[in-house]
Amino acid sequence: MMKVSAPNGITMSGIRIPQGVHMEVPVHSIHMDSSNYTNPTTFSPFRFAASHSSCLNHHKSVVATDDAFLGFGYGKNSCPGRFFGSHLMKVMFAYILQHYDVKHMPKRPKDFIIMEFRAVSDNTQIRIRRRK
Ligand code: HEM
Repeated sequence: MMKVSAPNGITMSGIRIPQGVHMEVPVHSIHMDSSNYTNPTTFSPFRFAASHSSCLNHHKSVVATDDAFLGFGYGKNSCPGRFFGSHLMKVMFAYILQHYDVKHMPKRPKDFIIMEFRAVSDNTQIRIRRRK
């Protein structure tokens, strides 16, 4: 989210936006747009794998940023920690898979939504057991 600070506002694509207006990029809608992704609402574990074709037009990696994949932002202020972050997530998932049994839920619980951000609801329960 950004707030227009220029005293006279800014003009984007011919539209004048006055000072003080908060602007937000509709990230979720862009990620759920079928002109960007095939079957965008379907969980596809290999969607971002290099050989997979469900990203239209171009292959994306989890750390590549572009105007249709905004998990780490886009442009000069995109996240510099994304390489570290994605490695850490892989290490965490590998550790969990090696050491725990996790029972997945029959139905995904409703997301907890704050503006364009979505997270798992804080009263979600999972069954997880450390392997002996
Ligand atoms: C999964 C983990 C992470 C996600 C999803 C994430 C996501 C983001 C997003 C969306 C932005 C905003 C880009 C923008 O303003 O357009 C950002 C910025 C930033 N992130 Fe991350 N981030 C993650 C991990 C990290 C880590 C581990 C670090 C540092 C070790 C980090 C450091 C930063 C910094 C310094 C910025 C500001 C960049 C700038 O304004 O030039 N992030 N991140």
